[in-house]
Amino acid sequence: MTRRIPQAGLDMLADRFELDIFPYDRLATKDEIIQGIKGKDGLLCLLTDNISADMMDAAPGLKVIANYAVGFNNIDVAAATQRKIAVTNTPGVLTDTTADLAFALLMSAARRIVEADKFTRAGKFEGWAPLLYLGQDIHHKTLGIVGFGRIGQAMAKRASGFDMKVLYYTAHRRPQAEEEKHGVEYRPLDDLLRESDFISLHVPLVGETRHLIGRREFDLMKPNAILINTARGPVVDEKALVEALKTGKIAGAGLDVFEQEPKIEPELLELDNVTIVPHIGSASVATRTKMSIMTAENIIAVFDGKIPPNLVNKEIV
Ligand code: NAP
Ligand code: GLV
Ligand code: GLV
Repeated sequence: MTRRIPQAGLDMLADRFELDIFPYDRLATKDEIIQGIKGKDGLLCLLTDNISADMMDAAPGLKVIANYAVGFNNIDVAAATQRKIAVTNTPGVLTDTTADLAFALLMSAARRIVEADKFTRAGKFEGWAPLLYLGQDIHHKTLGIVGFGRIGQAMAKRASGFDMKVLYYTAHRRPQAEEEKHGVEYRPLDDLLRESDFISLHVPLVGETRHLIGRREFDLMKPNAILINTARGPVVDEKALVEALKTGKIAGAGLDVFEQEPKIEPELLELDNVTIVPHIGSASVATRTKMSIMTAENIIAVFDGKIPPNLVNKEIV
């Protein structure tokens, strides 16, 4: 295990296996992971651990790589499949928690909560004022959802409570009945970017979604647009984002993820019209506990000779 996880999942694993847990409260380096997995049967890793083919070769007995996350772009899944190693993730249990954070970022950016909080703490509040911290309305505005999977759909549900018009773009357009059920309208990506007041990203990081949002896409957006990213940093060209925010091509952003985590474009940190949090999308006590249990169940299933409930590379079966 490249890091300690919440107790519930840890207890389930400790009952069954001999555990070797990375002893420090920091990210493990590549060399430390290679040293750690030598001779091991399973690996529990984090989204911050890049699990490459050479690491897998350091542990010829490896049967499972269990990611403590739903996104698995950090794992060379093809290499694992070649080696018949099961790759598992934690879908579903973190959907609502992550959508909650995406909506919180949307509201925070629209209503300038972080700026206004800093101002108030600095002792600058001198009474109600007609022009103090005017932001943008959320209700009755248009939200564009990019990637209409579990979290994208949960975002649409939240938006409906705010009477928002919801547009979506995704790899596979949904049938009309499903669109009506969710109260959403399909748009090609460029049209969605042109029409939306808020744009929220919910695609996985894969080849086609890397820099899906770059300079060309920012040029299409409205000047009042606010971009929310809780997906993966590299889905957005961070330098182009900085430029769009500085030149007023868009009005703001709410970011949970960054292109080169934990590094962040220094200029981004200087901007007032960005709300920035440190990749805490799934970070509620209840959800992290559920993720730990799900990860343990995936690992246990592999060693019971069963198909793990959240197998990513089904081809190995
Ligand atoms: P999901 O259910 O698989 O949804 C992803 C959706 O993206 C799918 O429905 C898929 O569309 C769409 N998609 C895939 N490739 C695409 C492409 N090239 N162009 C357009 N759409 C594409 O996954 P999820 O559970 O909602 O999670 C989404 C992502 O959020 C994860 O992969 C992870 O990176 C990120 N995440 C972040 C946090 C956080 O802490 N910030 C927490 C959880 C998840 P179709 O259905 O149309 O094929
Ligand atoms: C978090 O980012 C996840 O993919 O679970
Ligand atoms: C504001 O507090 C109002 O009463 O309008």
